[in-house]
Order: sequence, then structure tokens, then C-alpha cells
Amino acid sequence: MRKGILAVAMTGLMAVSGLAACAEDTEPGDAKTPFIGVILPDSKSSARWETADRKYLKEAFEKAGVKYDIQNAQDDKTAFQSIADQMITKGVTVLVIVNLDSGTGKAVLDKAAAQGIPTIDYDRLTLGGNAKYYVSFDNVAVGRLQGEGLVKCLTEKGAKTPAIAQLNGSPTDNNATLFKEGGVSVLKPKYDAKEYTLAADQPVPGWDNAQGGVIFEQMLTQANGKIDGVLAANDGLGNAAISVLKKNKLNGKVPVTGQDATVQGLQNILLGDQCMTVYKAVKKEADATAELAIALAKGETKTVSQTTKDSETGKDVPSVLLEPQAIYFNNVKDVVTDGYVTKAELCTADFAAKCTEAGIS
Ligand code: BGC
Repeated sequence: MRKGILAVAMTGLMAVSGLAACAEDTEPGDAKTPFIGVILPDSKSSARWETADRKYLKEAFEKAGVKYDIQNAQDDKTAFQSIADQMITKGVTVLVIVNLDSGTGKAVLDKAAAQGIPTIDYDRLTLGGNAKYYVSFDNVAVGRLQGEGLVKCLTEKGAKTPAIAQLNGSPTDNNATLFKEGGVSVLKPKYDAKEYTLAADQPVPGWDNAQGGVIFEQMLTQANGKIDGVLAANDGLGNAAISVLKKNKLNGKVPVTGQDATVQGLQNILLGDQCMTVYKAVKKEADATAELAIALAKGETKTVSQTTKDSETGKDVPSVLLEPQAIYFNNVKDVVTDGYVTKAELCTADFAAKCTEAGIS
């Protein structure tokens, strides 16, 4: 059973040494019956946390036959702390967190460490933290795919000196910094060459989709309606921008990017309102995390091949960083084939014809 999980993690660019690590590698006294606690951040900033992460983590833990507890802090930092306290009291042997910001995340990691409980940063790196591992995607590559996607869609539309709005993720999410870094690495040369102009650039606190819509509406007003492309950090913010564009009869004319391959994002792509999304195979992220968490619980040491520099401590955190994939109209079907979304969810009545056109059968 463990081999199966490992095989999946391995395909995700993870090189594990000491594959044969078994009970005999365990220091006597260190081994604990695995009980993994996971704290997810919220259920509104992206559909992924409840529809994908919870599902795949649960499946991985059940397949491995270990005890687990997955909870969601619902964007409440106080709740995040008390969930962690309860999990520690209940005796989790490993704690996995998706922080709401580095400060409150670090407080939880420190508390766990004080109790001898190893931790994993899942998806978001806790700056200044002390997690044993960081499991995520190559987040600069995510942003680069978004930047390249926007350029591709603007080029296809024949846009001349397009004015770009950058609708960034939460200022307290290290991933948002990395997404922006990747996106700007593609767009800045265009701004510098005066091929594109930067019309607006703002983060959206807490990735709040509703606030993202308000911010985008202000951007559009301030630009006198002249925004030709939107670098939106995820599908939720992309959809918020699309809703505003719709009100102004600009949807479909102004390319918008996204991330997470949510049902809504994919449907927006099928309709032509969204240029692209970035698919991150969360199953691989969950499998790799479960594998490492179980090893930590057993007192085993696994070596992973990548590291991520914590910009606050300067330390290299052992990491598993998976590859993201750009999704356009023509390969929406890949996400369905991979089982991330089902045809039934995606191809409802309003989208049936578009699904057929996109080769989703
Ligand atoms: C994740 C994205 C998600 C965003 C909002 C980021 O840290 O990497 O997948 O869309 O948070 O929840």
C-alpha cells in the first residue's frame, strides 16, 4: 500500500532517498502510531480546499490506514489557533497546516514544536516558520504560466498596446508574492518595451473574491474603461473581474487569467470569458504530504530533492514542488481526464455544447 502512494508522489518530481525505510529504520521510542492533523484555510477564497484538498488528503490517509483529522479554519485566525490547540490536545503526532498568514501560522508551528510534534507547511510556506517539509507547486511557474497565457490571449485578439490590470492574491500569502513574481517576469519586459502598459496593480486581502470585484471595478473606472487584459491570480478573482466586465459588456473581449481549474473557472474558459487557468494536480500534492506526514509520525527521515528558501530565516526548507499546467479551451478536457473535475459537474445544460466542442466526452 505504501508503495502505491510513493509511486504517485515520485511521478510528481519527488526523489525520495531511503525508499526502503521501514519499521527497522525507526529509532526505538520515536515511533508513534500516526495521527495526522490538517488545518485548511477557508472555503471561499478557492473551491479547491474543500472539493480537492480535503478529498485527496482523506483518500490518501484512508488508503494508508492512518488516523487523521482534517478541519477548516474558515478564514478565522483565532479559530485556526484553537483548532491547532485542540488537535495537539487530542494527540496528533504530525500537524499539517495551510497558514492564513505567516505570523499566525508560525505561532501554531512553534506551539507544535514545543510539544515535539513535527509539522508540514502544505501549499503555503510559513515565513519564519520551522516546518520539517514544504509541499506545494512551483509557484513562480504558476505565475509565469498566467503571464504567458495573458500574452497568448492578447496576441490572438490582436490587442495593440494593451493596458493590463494586475489583480493579485492576498498580501499575506507567500504564494501570492511568488505568483506575481512569475507573472511580472513575463509582463515587465513588455511594459519596459512600451508594448503593454500597466493600468492597475493591487493585492486582494485574504483572496476575498467579493472584495476583488470591488477593487477591479475601481480599477476599471479609474482607467476610464480601458483595461485590455487582467492578470487575475486565481479563478475566484478572475470570476470577480469577469462579473464586472459582464456589467460593462466587456466579457470575452478582455482576457482574464486564473488558477485552480475550478468548475467555475473551466466554465468561464468554455464560454470564452476566461483566457486560461492553471491546473495544479492537488492529488499529487496530497499524496506527497500524506507520505511525508506518515514517515514523520513513524520517526523516519525521508530526503526530498528540492528546497525552498524561507526569505525571513534564510533557511532552505526541504520541499516537494510539483509542476503546474496551463489550461486553455483546447485542453480543458485534460482536467476531466485526470479526474479533477467530472464531466457531470462541468458539462451542465448551459455548457453541454461547449463541452462537445472542447472534445469532452
Ligand atoms: C493557493 C491557490 C489558491 C489561493 C486562495 C493559494 O495559496 O496556492 O491555489 O487559489 O491560495 O485560496
